[in-house]
Amino acid sequence: MSGAFPWRLPIIAAPMAGGPSTLALVEAVGRAGGLGFVPGGYLPPAAFDELLDHADALGVPYGANLFHPTRQTGDPGAIAAYARQLQPLADEFGATLGDPIWSDDDYAQKVEVVARHRPAAVSITFGNPTAADVDAIRSGSGALVAVTVTSAEEATAAAAVGADLLVVQGAEAGGHRGIHDDDPAHPFGAPLTPVAVLLAEITAVTSVPLIAAGGIMDGAAIASAIRLGAAAAQLGTAFLCTDEAGTSAPHRAALLDRRYPGTVVTRAFSGRPARGLANEFAADHADAPPGYPEIHYLTKPLRGAAMAAGSAAVPSLWAGTNWRAVTTGPAAELVARLAAELDREL
Ligand SMILES: Cc1cc2nc3c(=O)[nH]c(=O)nc-3n(C[C@H](O)[C@H](O)[C@H](O)COP(=O)(O)O)c2cc1C
Repeated sequence: MSGAFPWRLPIIAAPMAGGPSTLALVEAVGRAGGLGFVPGGYLPPAAFDELLDHADALGVPYGANLFHPTRQTGDPGAIAAYARQLQPLADEFGATLGDPIWSDDDYAQKVEVVARHRPAAVSITFGNPTAADVDAIRSGSGALVAVTVTSAEEATAAAAVGADLLVVQGAEAGGHRGIHDDDPAHPFGAPLTPVAVLLAEITAVTSVPLIAAGGIMDGAAIASAIRLGAAAAQLGTAFLCTDEAGTSAPHRAALLDRRYPGTVVTRAFSGRPARGLANEFAADHADAPPGYPEIHYLTKPLRGAAMAAGSAAVPSLWAGTNWRAVTTGPAAELVARLAAELDREL
């Protein structure tokens, strides 16, 4: 079905850093014929290395994902003012706000880590790798190298460094926007373009195979992405409530009981535009300043304490626009359903 890939189905479970993407999810999706991703974001390189040792031993194709370093744009004064604003909430949950540090997420070391392993694909988000990094990953691991793009300009730049695949992330997508150069003056970092429009714009400028992402929850949506020129689809939100996902209990509950009316793109949690359920924290801090990953590290202990207390009001509840179609059950059943629906469409 997906002749272009070393895995059977054009169905990818998105890398979801911070808990949801477990090895069990990667294994279940891989055994069902799709591709699951091990996210490297936020992990110390040694922990990522160990996870990929386990992934290599699974005996199924898998992907690995890296966060590209971001330009340091945060204004320390504005971040300090945001910290003062958050202090009463931190006190309420008995949390100590974190140090708003900038970090490159140990990107260079993680490039070396993936190059020592055997992923079928390595995807990079938040920026465009150098041609040397693409070569190092491909020659070390044998993986196809994918770059997440949110515009035709980013697609052209990623094709120019030799990307084998482009993950075309539409406005609908849950989680962080993959924009290469987040404009701090823009509320969303850059214009939000729906995935169907992006696919049309990007197929016009490159012949690199495309993976569509954003708001895809069923086989019919995968089929329409394929009709618009995609070779496969990457689904995040659809997998959040599967049995194998490591999604937190408050996040699952908020998705399943439809507590919040919709999603919003906000910098409130991490300083970088990301789409999640419009919970109380997102509503109360719509004017949060830019500054990624400083604000991620500032709010992390608060989000963690609220989560531990069972609250959905404060943690980031990443979700794409079509989150209402989320289902529960084994990931293999979801992949089988998506494949059957896709077969009926194509
Ligand atoms: C909870 C969550 C965490 C995510 N974490 C990552 C990540 O670590 N790396 C990445 O490249 N994309 C990440 N994404 C974005 C996905 O790759 C993808 O673009 C998105 O899930 C597609 O939209 P959908 O959620 O509507 O399917 C995340 C998405 C969600 C929902």
